[in-house]
Amino acid sequence: MIPQRVSCVVGARPNFMKVAPVYLALRSRGLQVRLVHTGQHYDAKMSAVFFDDLGMPRPDAFLGVGSGSHAEQTAKIMTLFEQDCTNWRPELTLVAGDVNSTIACALVASKLAIAVGHIEAGLRSRDWGMPEEINRVLTDHASDLLLTPSPDADANLLAEGIEPWRIRFVGNCMIDSLRAHQARAVALEPWRAFGLEAQGYVVATLHRPSNVDDPRQLAQLMAALGEVAKQLPVVFPVHPRTAARLLDAHITTPVGVQVVEPLGYLQFLGLMAKAAVVATDSGGIQEETTALGVPCLTLRATTERPVTITEGSNILLGVNPELLAPAVATVLAGSGKVGRVPQLWDGAAAQRIADTITQGFSTLLERAPK
Ligand code: UD1
Repeated sequence: MIPQRVSCVVGARPNFMKVAPVYLALRSRGLQVRLVHTGQHYDAKMSAVFFDDLGMPRPDAFLGVGSGSHAEQTAKIMTLFEQDCTNWRPELTLVAGDVNSTIACALVASKLAIAVGHIEAGLRSRDWGMPEEINRVLTDHASDLLLTPSPDADANLLAEGIEPWRIRFVGNCMIDSLRAHQARAVALEPWRAFGLEAQGYVVATLHRPSNVDDPRQLAQLMAALGEVAKQLPVVFPVHPRTAARLLDAHITTPVGVQVVEPLGYLQFLGLMAKAAVVATDSGGIQEETTALGVPCLTLRATTERPVTITEGSNILLGVNPELLAPAVATVLAGSGKVGRVPQLWDGAAAQRIADTITQGFSTLLERAPK
């Protein structure tokens, strides 16, 4: 099929930078493109600022679902997105990444016999305790077109029995946004607002339930950031989920750590680009630091992005907070990983997605036995 009407779904912070370049590329090819925001993330600092920074128009539809349990949030998104699809009748729905909005909208579209394309398909942590892993696997199996960022993703999909004609290795769309905005972000010199110098600080982010929902783990991680701050100052932009947990558990901020509000896309990109080290449990930041050649220490037991380790600047540190300060010391002593930029992380992934869509692809329905 060659679709003319495409719905692009965004919902949570990591979706915006993946979908923006694809949305813009499809529009420039003359397709009718509808931008649907589920409202999974709704704080201005988690959502609106990204539209401005990425040059995205206001969404055509805002479903306003907000927070809730996984079931509540997923169910609300499904109900409202089903109405949106019934009214607008897209021929293709594009979803991205691994958040609840991704699986919810993929399920709705596939049951309405609308073709589904998954941006960032095929990533696997093999940790079934992560809600995102469940979202990744189920979204891939509900999708017609699996748009992968790296060859390991293709291998994962083939191993799960997904037909090769559904898989297209297109590269990493998140890096399209990074390359488009990197120079402007660095020119803002966002580190100066925190009284820091380029290369003279560590950036930390933590929001995974496995790190922040257990008060003991969170307290130990904050103490570990305090140890890091004895070497270099730490800036810690705090996700609302983490902020709430820090407050609930009465965890204080160690000396040398600046706990700040979530930053916009350009501010954070500029800060990350000139950091000495980044410590994180985010998926996307592992990729962005690899593209920037900035050493990254990942505070998780597994990663669904192994190419950032085998080729990039990422080290999987594990979940023991005590390992963080010695690992930072190793990097500062000059033994940090720089790595290289993986194949097709070249700023043109969205154009390859637009090529794939406008040249046509087979859908599951077309291939189904009659
Ligand atoms: C979601 C994604 C996660 C992604 C992260 C990026 C799922 C299952 N998880 O996690 O994969 O890495 O986004 O940020 O989809 N909150 C606000 N304001 C907001 C949004 C959330 O205050 O704009 C608070 C609410 O208290 C909410 C909590 O954060 O209950 C968690 O939000 P939720 O969307 O459920 O998951 P995230 O932790 O943000």
